[in-house]
Amino acid sequence: MPQIEKTYIMIKPDAVRDRKIGEIITRIERSGLTIERLDMAVLEPDVVREHYAHLADKPFFENLVAFMTSGPVVKMVVSGLGAIGKMRTLMGATNPLDAAPGTIRGDFAVDVNSNVIHGSDGPDTAKIEIERFFGEA
Ligand code: RTP
Ligand code: MG
Repeated sequence: MPQIEKTYIMIKPDAVRDRKIGEIITRIERSGLTIERLDMAVLEPDVVREHYAHLADKPFFENLVAFMTSGPVVKMVVSGLGAIGKMRTLMGATNPLDAAPGTIRGDFAVDVNSNVIHGSDGPDTAKIEIERFFGEA
């Protein structure tokens, strides 16, 4: 049975620069999910390094940190039935070259290095990320 879940979503700096906030939020709301919290911020490098610590040994890590701190992001807590998996489906594959048309990355992103949106990949990371970016679960 699907559970009511909360997930941490971030509209990345490329999409904010390209004025896609409205279209992305429209897709999230149209899918039946609820935006519970919403804020904008320019992230500090240290919080990005912590957020993407699983990628610290990758050659693209410092580029990823530079990209994620290059301008404001939109931070959200999104809730609803099966919200974590539903958001990952709406977002599409990590690499926009593999993301299906109709998904957010498939429609708005062209490059894996600037792929428009982040969504938590499971219940444990969702809880940690909501605490990391909003200070409480
Ligand atoms: P995200 O955390 O941003 O939602 O992305 P994800 O779960 O789909 O993928 P993850 O493996 O967590 O990767 C995080 C971000 O690192 C960048 N990346 N670049 N150049 C590359 O091969 C590469 N691989 C990953 C992407 O921006 C990805 O979203
Ligand atoms: Mg990830």
